[in-house]
Amino acid sequence: MGEEVTYGGYLRLKELLGAQQPQTAQHDELLFVILHQTMELWMKQVIHELGAAQTEVRSGNLVPAYKHMARVSRIQAVMTQTWDILATMTPADYLNFRSLLGASSGFQSAQFRVLEARLGLKDASFLKFHPDGSDERAMLEAALAAPSLYDDVLEQLAKAGFDIPAAAYQRAPGAAYDPSDAVENAWLIVYRDTQKHWALYQLAEKLIDLDDAFLTWRHKHVLTVERIIGRKRGTGGTEGVGYLQRTLTRRAFPELWSLRTKL
Ligand code: HEM
Repeated sequence: MGEEVTYGGYLRLKELLGAQQPQTAQHDELLFVILHQTMELWMKQVIHELGAAQTEVRSGNLVPAYKHMARVSRIQAVMTQTWDILATMTPADYLNFRSLLGASSGFQSAQFRVLEARLGLKDASFLKFHPDGSDERAMLEAALAAPSLYDDVLEQLAKAGFDIPAAAYQRAPGAAYDPSDAVENAWLIVYRDTQKHWALYQLAEKLIDLDDAFLTWRHKHVLTVERIIGRKRGTGGTEGVGYLQRTLTRRAFPELWSLRTKL
């Protein structure tokens, strides 16, 4: 007979609840750890859902893909709300333990870079934070080499007869996406006759939901960071708020934004 399933055993609560190890006796450090850990857990789930959405898109099954994308949107909303909990930590509370963080920062989150790459925002320069042979490195290399969600969508556009050069969705591993007129023109055709191209139009709007929510998450992060550390440099070595503000211009699906001006 197998071991009886228990709540704590099934959920591995011993490991999970043993994984918060504040380095100081400062009250707020536990919150800081738990906020990062929950965010990493949600990123894991989002990556999982995006993988399923990509499988559906690649097979041309757009409606089942929407279901996964809708779930991602709900998770993104929860992730964004998390910043309100962080905002209850004052600058004085954070300064009590900030020095112990050394050079560590969310900047080095491998899952965050996998998530970006899965959407279409690839930047191989972040590999340097993860040593050769580490699981994180392997995970990030795989995400950089694989087609992104946007690549899969563009391939569907090409299959539907739109004039999309294969180079738009096939690049060397890790290469960043380069916005193109051909892709923007294809989306313009979709948006100019939504009745005719309803499935692709709906897909595009689901994508913009994801990009919008991701930017909202970034925006709330930078606001909260400014509230806590002002214009101090980041522990990860960037200038801090100035760097984070520049990330607000990053768009996973750039032509879906730019086409709106031309409609
Ligand atoms: C007191 C709380 C926090 C402060 C002051 C803070 C500050 C910063 C700063 C200054 C950066 C820029 C990189 C650097 O120089 O370090 C950064 C990046 C980042 N942080 Fe935070 N952060 C906080 C909490 C969090 C939490 C809870 C998460 C959740 C995982 C997180 C995730 C990230 C990510 C993913 C980046 C990379 C953003 C990008 O490069 O686009 N941060 N943070």
